[in-house]
Amino acid sequence: MKRVYNFSAGPSTLPESVLKQAQEDMISYKDAGMNVMEMSHRSPVYGEIIDTAKQDLIDLMEIPDNYEVLFLQGGASTQFAMIPMNLGVKGKAQYINTGAWTKKAIAEAKKLGMEVDVVATSEDTTFSYIPKITSEQVDVDSDYFYIASNNTIYGTSFVNLPDTKGVTLIADMSSDILSKVVNVSDYGIIFAGAQKNMGPAGVTVVIIRKDLIGNAGVTVPTMLNYETHSKAGSMFNTPPTYSIYVAGLVFKWLKEIGGLPAIQKINEDKAALLYDYMDTTEFYKTPVAKEDRSLMNITFLCSTSELDAAFIKGAAKKDMVNLKGHRSLGGMRASIYNAMPIEGVQALIDYMKEFEAANK
Ligand SMILES: Cc1ncc(COP(=O)(O)O)c(C=O)c1O
Repeated sequence: MKRVYNFSAGPSTLPESVLKQAQEDMISYKDAGMNVMEMSHRSPVYGEIIDTAKQDLIDLMEIPDNYEVLFLQGGASTQFAMIPMNLGVKGKAQYINTGAWTKKAIAEAKKLGMEVDVVATSEDTTFSYIPKITSEQVDVDSDYFYIASNNTIYGTSFVNLPDTKGVTLIADMSSDILSKVVNVSDYGIIFAGAQKNMGPAGVTVVIIRKDLIGNAGVTVPTMLNYETHSKAGSMFNTPPTYSIYVAGLVFKWLKEIGGLPAIQKINEDKAALLYDYMDTTEFYKTPVAKEDRSLMNITFLCSTSELDAAFIKGAAKKDMVNLKGHRSLGGMRASIYNAMPIEGVQALIDYMKEFEAANK
């Protein structure tokens, strides 16, 4: 059966061994006589699946005891509202605007009546860099300070975290969770939709410091209150059972290959291959500031949109798909998440060289 190199920004490629395991479990999960998606979420067998997935995530990220791990629905986008609804006690928050996803988060907080201070933005250059802030810009009276750690569309990433002077840091890690070692204690909330580095769409992981739970106002809907899900062990209503099961397989795969230090090294090596090559040629340009380059989403352009289109078409003929850049930036974007093998990156570079030689 043919597999392509899938450079999609999300939903994205999954490890083949995970897909094979899911295939093996398709007709009957172990000796349950049914698929995971056919099971009651209240059954002991499913209880073991969700508990194991949660524990494996805790082990991988070394999540301390004073944090809760929640498996929620509504995508990362629902967190844009849940965060102000649950944390906006004083009604003030600060955001760094690094792209379309932070803009959406800012808009949602404003809609909920928050006083939003956009501390810094890189919109002036179509988000080609991560704006640096000084600690003087931090309002210590804010409820929280919000960033997107990796910007899927533009290909930028925070290498160093801003100093928030003790203000609770919130990170949208949708496109770089589990790609490298992070110190969970640096954050009040880490959240991510699963569909890039964790598994299928449908589940959103929220890692939240326990003291931030239980502060929502009385008008906050039950389903949008972290306390609801924390008290119910992510089982207040039917959780996205199958997505959690596949994410659990991805966590096991990551553990087997050596956890986050090992995948970080692999991701650094993969990204370096591509960036090092691009730095040797004028044919492809990456719009991103060198010090803010993402390890996950690598954006680049040829000199004309016609060449970009020809590049993407030629790549697809060689079974390298989903390389078209986001419409707001154009050009190309290679999303090289955890599950993209180094061979895929090498194949892309070989093709880039070939395309350059034919079109220069
Ligand atoms: C950084 C980031 N945040 C949020 C989202 C939105 O995620 P969802 O579609 O799960 O709501 C995305 C989706 O691509 C993303 O890349």
